[in-house]
Amino acid sequence: MKNQNLVLIGMMGSGKTTMGRALSKELNCPFVDIDEAIVAEYQQTIAALFEKGEAYFRECEQNVIQKYSQRKGIVIATGGGSILAKSNVTNLKENGICIWLNRSVPDILKDLNPIGRPLLAEGTEKFVQLYEERLPIYQQVADITFDNSGSLKDALPKLLKIGAEQKWR
Ligand code: S3P
Repeated sequence: MKNQNLVLIGMMGSGKTTMGRALSKELNCPFVDIDEAIVAEYQQTIAALFEKGEAYFRECEQNVIQKYSQRKGIVIATGGGSILAKSNVTNLKENGICIWLNRSVPDILKDLNPIGRPLLAEGTEKFVQLYEERLPIYQQVADITFDNSGSLKDALPKLLKIGAEQKWR
């Protein structure tokens, strides 16, 4: 995967950061979490950026995605809403394969931490609404759909098996 990136997409709480870190360790390549990169770049928390309006946060997100999409050979964990802007999808796909981590709403809600996730302030109903709105977009953007309903311990080897078939190493 020297010439391509592995880009993890999916809802908040679908396991993108956890899986991304594990994948990068296994494949011995750098890992970038877009939310963390936004916080580092703008020196503000995601919540503080959202306070300036969601549109402002999305602008910051676009800038950071554009920057990291140019790299090659990295694992990228995106924020759940990254795929909403067509330009992000175009940028991420330029050097990357998009892997959609699909996890059911009940599974996500079981262990989702609302701290630092402003879109969860409105509660479960809002989350379900976002999930339903975004599902077709994740489906459309995904090069690979991965059922991430189990534990990381079980999921990682399954995803690595797909990676072996696709010669990610
Ligand atoms: C968002 C998801 C968050 C973060 C922001 C908005 C979204 O990232 O980018 O709170 O729109 O779904 P995670 O998916 O990593 O929680």
